[in-house]
Amino acid sequence: MFVDSAMAAQAAAVDSQFSDRVAALLEGIEQQLMAAAVADTAFATQAAQHIISAGGKRFRPLLVVLSSMLGQRAADDDEVARAALVVELTHVASLYHDDVMDEAELRRGAPSANRRWDNNVAILVGDLLFSRASSIVATLGVEYVTLQAETFARLVQGQLAETRGPQPDDDPLAHYLAVVADKTGSLIATSARFGGMVAGASDEVLAALSAYGEEIGVVFQLSDDIIDIASDTAGKTPGTDLRAGVPTLPTLLAQRSTDPSDARLLSLLAGGIDDDAEVAEALGLLRAHPVLAEARAEVARRAEVARAHLAPLPEGPAKDALLALCDTVITRSA
Ligand code: IPE
Ligand code: IPE
Ligand code: MG
Ligand code: MG
Repeated sequence: MFVDSAMAAQAAAVDSQFSDRVAALLEGIEQQLMAAAVADTAFATQAAQHIISAGGKRFRPLLVVLSSMLGQRAADDDEVARAALVVELTHVASLYHDDVMDEAELRRGAPSANRRWDNNVAILVGDLLFSRASSIVATLGVEYVTLQAETFARLVQGQLAETRGPQPDDDPLAHYLAVVADKTGSLIATSARFGGMVAGASDEVLAALSAYGEEIGVVFQLSDDIIDIASDTAGKTPGTDLRAGVPTLPTLLAQRSTDPSDARLLSLLAGGIDDDAEVAEALGLLRAHPVLAEARAEVARRAEVARAHLAPLPEGPAKDALLALCDTVITRSA
């Protein structure tokens, strides 16, 4: 199983009573995630649990749990868990679909569902998990259902805009950043807000949590896109975005270059890369290129923006953990 528990551990390393509580909540959520994927047949259950049991960082449930400690009342554990299930199930479902769109082979260190079975299975299992998220969000109330629906609409439209690509009048970098905010920032913003909602947080705190979640979500995706180029150990195949022709911050920055020594890289990026040797060549050129440092600097800059959004939150270990996550997103792609 590919589990990146470093994020939760670092976030919770602040005080031991607090970290025990975070760990206990996340453990309960873990069991309920598997239960939420039980379906009518053994095959459907196996396919629906496949990517859940493969691991993952559980970043969105972690945000729900931490934010649920920042409200005006003690949140009910079961409500916290249900809110976390909604966001993680939505996320996992979107991963099943995303791997079809991106023709990905590996997810969370395991064969993606489209590869293990086929596209149809991956699409239908994704839909099944969305339906489970819908059933659970209905138990939380109309306000949650409405926010979840709006979030899902943003996520899907982000994926659609990415697939369609920038239009002739669009600035490619601005298009990319809007895509990232919609496909990733939206659900991470909602994760942070859901936690505040179950704990009756004030409007000011809810707004701060949403703004923080949106920004850290963007940073998180930017760092993920750097990892796609820079790392061989992320549980995904490096160069997947290059192969799929998905522009990312480093490639967009490289495409602005007028330096003649970038001619080969630019011609590879312009052509769409499917050949293994060309993917390896483009990865090598990008890994040695100053755009990687530029992209990392942008990640660090935006992580500070996320950090600044936390100012209105009440002091305490939950706020400290959210602050620590700003450092984690920087170091994971460093
Ligand atoms: C992957 O999300 C897709 C992105 C939005 C970058 P995560 O990086 O949260 O994936 P898991 O849940 O840890 O596998
Ligand atoms: C995933 O985007 C975003 C959603 C699933 C909505 P990516 O395609 O960039 O993420 P990875 O690299 O496959 O995890
Ligand atoms: Mg993908
Ligand atoms: Mg994608």
